[in-house]
Amino acid sequence: MELTFSERNSEVLAVEAHGLFKAFGQNRAVDGVNLSVPAGTIYGVLGPNGAGKTTTINMLATLLRPDGGSAKIFGHDVVKESQIVRQLIGVTGQYASVDESLSATENLMIFSRLLGLSRAEARNKTEELLDEFGLTEAAKRPLKNFSGGMRRRLDLAASLIAQPPLIFLDEPTTGLDPRTRSQMWDTIRRLVNTGSTILLTTQYLEEADQLADRVAVIDRGRVVAEGTVDELKASVGTSSLQLIVSHPQDIEAACRIIELVLKVRPTVTSGKITAPMTNADLVTDLLISLREAGIHLAEMSVQKPTLDEVFLTITGQGVGDTSQLSDESNSRQEVRV
Ligand SMILES: Nc1ncnc2c1ncn2[C@@H]1O[C@H](COP(=O)(O)OP(=O)(O)OP(=O)(O)O)[C@@H](O)[C@H]1O
Ligand SMILES: [Mg+2]
Repeated sequence: MELTFSERNSEVLAVEAHGLFKAFGQNRAVDGVNLSVPAGTIYGVLGPNGAGKTTTINMLATLLRPDGGSAKIFGHDVVKESQIVRQLIGVTGQYASVDESLSATENLMIFSRLLGLSRAEARNKTEELLDEFGLTEAAKRPLKNFSGGMRRRLDLAASLIAQPPLIFLDEPTTGLDPRTRSQMWDTIRRLVNTGSTILLTTQYLEEADQLADRVAVIDRGRVVAEGTVDELKASVGTSSLQLIVSHPQDIEAACRIIELVLKVRPTVTSGKITAPMTNADLVTDLLISLREAGIHLAEMSVQKPTLDEVFLTITGQGVGDTSQLSDESNSRQEVRV
């Protein structure tokens, strides 16, 4: 049996939070959040506007003092050992934190020097990061002439100078065009492959689907669901099987076989057979039975519930225009024959 990430790294937790609490006046922004992030993984914190994502990250990153609960970063308490914690983390904020009037090169040089690198080391590191983030050509331009995507990349580059073991990314791709977004995803995957742990917040369900090993869904300051993306999907409902047979006269026979193998009653609408599936693995058995019966398929797909549907079920609200999200989403598993 293949072990999951959390089992393999169960001894090492990059983040461990218990009952984290923060109120702004009457507003319980973070209301008892528990989190366990295994080292070496990408962990997604998902939630709508105002859910408490940034506030949670700020407390974990020692930028905001919790009103209650506790949190450890690689075993170090964020309040009592904040100095150690700061050496273990990199934070990329929701808004770029670099200096507007300076060029990309100047910004990275300053950050490097502040972190104690020698001038030569700083120059090498700056060149390496500009190259990694595709900013070499724009390196001499002042930041005020940068596009949103370039700023994001520079901001991420700046947070990587120290190569921290844990990187917080607060909505790293919000406002980026699809191509720049997927470049960011590649960069994030590379960071994890070279040993970092990533905790990222996102409002994009597809982003969590693409990147995260595990996800916590936060709503109104509380974790309302936690698990792998597949577990979350499975918790919400069944997959659905859809097929079209090559010869319409086979529809009835196909339905009988589906009933026999899947133990569910399929429905037929304009030539398309649809059946709920609790176990997508059964599709193999079904295909064999259909072939043995000499029934040919024109089209077949198995669709898992999308993360949109999961989110809607868990929080009772969408995160925006659902039709647009499902357009973007690649989360449906389709098998065509
Ligand atoms: N400094 C602050 N002072 C007062 N209220 C705040 C402060 N920071 C956040 N809040 C409130 O706390 C709640 C959680 O905010 P937070 O920024 O953590 O949400 P978020 O999940 O990051 O949202 P978004 O997706 O919009 O970034 C919100 O109701 C917000 O208005
Ligand atoms: Mg936020």
